Amino acid sequence: MKILAIETSCDETAISIVEAEGGLRQPRFKVLKNLVASQIETHRPYGGVVPNLAKREHLKNLPILLAKLTKNYRLETINLICVTVGPGLEPCLWTGIEFAKKLAKELKKPLVGANHMEGHLFSNWLPPIRKSQISPPKADPPRAENLKSQNLSIIFPAVALVVSGGHTILLKMDSLIKWKKLGETRDDAAGEAFDKVARLLGLLYPGGPEIEKLALRQARGKQKKGTIEFPRPMLNQKNYEFSFSGLKTSVLYYLRDNAKVNKADIAASFQTALVDVLVKKTMRAAREFGAKSVLLSGGVAANKSLRENFAIQAARYKLQFHAPLFEYNTDNAAMIAAAAYIKHLQKKRYKLSAQANLNL
Ligand code: KG4
Ligand code: ZN
Repeated sequence: MKILAIETSCDETAISIVEAEGGLRQPRFKVLKNLVASQIETHRPYGGVVPNLAKREHLKNLPILLAKLTKNYRLETINLICVTVGPGLEPCLWTGIEFAKKLAKELKKPLVGANHMEGHLFSNWLPPIRKSQISPPKADPPRAENLKSQNLSIIFPAVALVVSGGHTILLKMDSLIKWKKLGETRDDAAGEAFDKVARLLGLLYPGGPEIEKLALRQARGKQKKGTIEFPRPMLNQKNYEFSFSGLKTSVLYYLRDNAKVNKADIAASFQTALVDVLVKKTMRAAREFGAKSVLLSGGVAANKSLRENFAIQAARYKLQFHAPLFEYNTDNAAMIAAAAYIKHLQKKRYKLSAQANLNL
């Protein structure tokens, strides 16, 4: 089935066309189109996302992306349209929903809602984009002959960490549709901590990639991981909850108490502390629940240090490690199509209205 997905929950306007097959036993996806219009430059002067500006940009970008899509793609071949209904910023969600409703009516196609966090979770199942998929031929691209070979067969039980700007969630998955939340953050999400610490260091929004860049400067020296011992919040507690606001405050105090500081060292030390907590808690959960695989997704999963440490520790404990391609870590619509497909197969539906606090 061909799915057209629309994502506008935060500051990326995204439209994607994904071909899905295989059912709940072995879902396989082929990403035919994956368009993202980033609003980073719009929000940068404000140091974070301004909801009304984001809404204005979505209104402007959605028709532009759709026009780009229809240039060499016949929308009549679409079987299902889906749109993110939450979690996210309410005015932004509504913009996507209204646009999707209108499009579904025009094309006479069914429309379903999708959960952004399920999107991040199921981004682990998306295959790599091939060059031809970035700019497909004029006619519809032929059915993927190698859809099967692109499939990642993720082995259950799995432990999945979803780390984004708004969420930090650890799950135990028994199957694609059966999971239990082991824990989540009690205060700041991991991405939020990156963004707030970046602001303290005078770096641009979004802070994650900026901190990573600065930390790399430190990594070229001898003290790769940083020399400052920032706290590892809740690391030694026997639960799977997280808390990152104390770590952010420690950086604030460090800056307050030291006249001369090395920002690259702070960035590296902060990143090391945060990565340490995420990796150790995930691996502990994987061992406790006898997981065969660990999955890592969400915007923060774009962080190379986090991915590397996940890979090293997963190998140490003989666990399979899956993380999506970099372009599927941060917000995109291909992952929304994947989430909608799984939901559709379960014959479950989300209400077609903005649900800012929807969760997993
Ligand atoms: O998933 P996402 O695009 O949006 C939400 O659903 O929140 O995640 C955005 C978050 C931001 O906080 C951003 O700073 C963080 O992901 N992020 C990173 C990196 N790239 C994006 N954090 C650390 N390292 C990165 N390379
Ligand atoms: Zn997201």
